[in-house]
Amino acid sequence: LQPVADGRYEITQRETTTEILPGVWTPVWTYDGTFPGPTIESRRGRPVTVTHRNDLQVPTVVHLHGGRTPAESDGYPTDLVLPEGWPVDQQPVHSGHARQMSDPRAVRTSRTRDYTFPLDQRPTMLWYHDHRMDFTAPAIWRGLAGLHFVRDDAEEALGLPSGPRELPLMITDRAFNDDGTFHYPSLDPSLRSTPGVEEPYLAGVLGDVILVNGAPWPVHEAEAARYRLRLLNASNARHYELEAVTEDGRRLDLVQVGADQGLLAAPVTHTSLPIGPAERYDVVIDFAGVPVGGLVRVLNRLGSGRAAEVMAFRIARAASDDSRVPAVLSTDLPAWRREDAVSVREFGFRAGRMGDGHGWLIDGRPFDPARTDVTVGLGDVEVWRLIADVHHPIHLHLTGFRILSRGGREPLPHDAGLKDTVSLRPGESAEIVTRFEGYRGRYLFHCHNAEHEDMGMMANLEVV
Ligand code: C2O
Ligand code: CU
Ligand code: CU
Repeated sequence: LQPVADGRYEITQRETTTEILPGVWTPVWTYDGTFPGPTIESRRGRPVTVTHRNDLQVPTVVHLHGGRTPAESDGYPTDLVLPEGWPVDQQPVHSGHARQMSDPRAVRTSRTRDYTFPLDQRPTMLWYHDHRMDFTAPAIWRGLAGLHFVRDDAEEALGLPSGPRELPLMITDRAFNDDGTFHYPSLDPSLRSTPGVEEPYLAGVLGDVILVNGAPWPVHEAEAARYRLRLLNASNARHYELEAVTEDGRRLDLVQVGADQGLLAAPVTHTSLPIGPAERYDVVIDFAGVPVGGLVRVLNRLGSGRAAEVMAFRIARAASDDSRVPAVLSTDLPAWRREDAVSVREFGFRAGRMGDGHGWLIDGRPFDPARTDVTVGLGDVEVWRLIADVHHPIHLHLTGFRILSRGGREPLPHDAGLKDTVSLRPGESAEIVTRFEGYRGRYLFHCHNAEHEDMGMMANLEVV
């Protein structure tokens, strides 16, 4: 996206119709007419203001995921950008499980809104997406997601693959109706639950079509060289375990150089990589040993049928390659230790009864914008123990964290580095350590299974 002035961008949210499946026209909610939305390229420490204008028919909220952002620009779920003509006191309710906002004073509104991002943080790939209370999942599903890179000179000096050999890959799944529209259960009256009956999508909404950057199962023409893949799982609920397989069945190494919040200290080599909703991985793959004309398929070990395939690379030609993966990638990772924590807290992420149906709760309570759940001191180091009943990718706004343990054991190899989302597996607990750096104000932590989030698995974090 081109700035309109130095550090200033304008994005109009609007509906458009796009050919995603060949010959099929799909209405999509977009940032500026494209799905995914336009990519913004920023430099570390150079503030950016994005003016969002809402030309959709519904209120929206913009959140920069992974951004260290003052609270007024963090996209609080009731901090709405209203469409033209929307009555300020009218808050529609998501079929099934929405709660009326109990604190209407929390709703601040306007038709356009400036979001200001200081971007005083480690270089990484952030993503912006909708975050409206109770409606985040269907809004992202309909297309409201885009990428925002933060870069700096030190990272560029490493010599990692760049230019056409650096590929952002936003992976999502979608389902389609026969008429080409996106299929989302709550929009389908035949699937609406009756009180007391479990929602058909309690586990989250899955699609049978895998999209990468908005295209179904793309085949990318590549050279026989190293590529840097900036992976994001922007799916509402689907977990993937990615592997790259050659035609003769060889698994290519996925050399991880970064996590959600930027570069690792040193590369970590995987043969497959689990990625939960909202997680990002920065990975280098080397196609040098693949014969010209060969195909490398990116597969999802957790998927069956069509969901087992993600995309492919067609190795089109030989090429010279002066990229490298240095043994030391960064030296600025925070060294917070368990002993530094001023508080140790525990949170349970579990299903529970909510009204006349089921909800997803944190410590037995659904999200309420009027309640402060946790108060922390700016600059404090804390250890949080997170406990899950089923799969829950848990995300903290404002700060990055390090994973201290999983299930009482050492973290897994892909837990390295600075994260903002930890994918808890069924029945698992994990400990994270973080420091609440940045700004005072009201933030959130929540499950990033977007349906779980809408069904209440979110809480307020007040930084004082
Ligand atoms: Cu990706 Cu609270 O968000
Ligand atoms: Cu976020
Ligand atoms: Cu969840």
